[in-house]
Amino acid sequence: MDAEYQAYARQALALAKLPPRAKILDVGAGLGALSLQAVQPPHHHQVWAVDYAEGMLKQLEARADEELSGEQRKRLHVAQMDGQDLQLDINSFDAAFAMFSLIFFPDRIQGLREMHRVIKPNGVAVVTSWGNPKKHGVIRRNNQALVAVNPNIPRPATVPPAFSLSDPAVFESEMKASGFVDVEIVPVVENFVIDDPGQFWDHMRYGFPGVNHLLNNYYNEQQVQQVRSLFVSKLRSEFAGQDRIFLSAEALVGIGRKRS
Ligand SMILES: C[S@@+](CC[C@H](N)C(=O)[O-])C[C@H]1O[C@@H](n2cnc3c(N)ncnc32)[C@H](O)[C@@H]1O
Repeated sequence: MDAEYQAYARQALALAKLPPRAKILDVGAGLGALSLQAVQPPHHHQVWAVDYAEGMLKQLEARADEELSGEQRKRLHVAQMDGQDLQLDINSFDAAFAMFSLIFFPDRIQGLREMHRVIKPNGVAVVTSWGNPKKHGVIRRNNQALVAVNPNIPRPATVPPAFSLSDPAVFESEMKASGFVDVEIVPVVENFVIDDPGQFWDHMRYGFPGVNHLLNNYYNEQQVQQVRSLFVSKLRSEFAGQDRIFLSAEALVGIGRKRS
């Protein structure tokens, strides 16, 4: 599922409008959708990729060793760190990115303040959240299958973390409350590209924390398989005759600047 994240990362890098060879931070870098692009042409950035999950960083390093040239690899620095407590110097980066990561932090404002602290005056922060769940082609269809199998599934008391900044007004106010100026919230749409709906669903079951949480807590294994079958048959009938399925999903990109 990394191709989708790479597409959003491409948009985020473009929106940051950085000159080449900037020094940037990727908070919650995961498998490196943004970091691996950023060290390559046309960017040639110096990248610090941090994540609190050791397993993610190991996979990121393995990919970097395989996919990057020697020079590009030297520009990538990987470290295990909590985004809410960055072990990095004040005023040291031209830009900081948090791609679908800050939305999962228990304390988002603390995460934003940390990004604000480590960027230089006039530096830029770029944060992404999923947008309106109704505009997320995968989640919308999966939610329909979840409700069909278990209509009593409880409505979440709070917005699920993946959509925690899906309200542009909340997103903007949290960025401003963390010290950012010139804040803009920009919607961007990319596609999930699906060749095999069953295999895609199996990845989603573990790769989407919100989906994983619901299935683990409110569905037995038989019901899990029913959700999977419903999702797969819905896609097969909706996109009959097509080898590849494209499901669009809206993300919101929050861009803010540190006062000069
Ligand atoms: C959905 S993944 C996104 C990964 C990557 N940024 C991308 O766009 O593909 C979220 C990442 O945030 C990381 N993460 C979540 N909470 C974190 C925290 N408090 N500090 C650092 N990383 C965190 C997770 O380990 C995971 O790698």
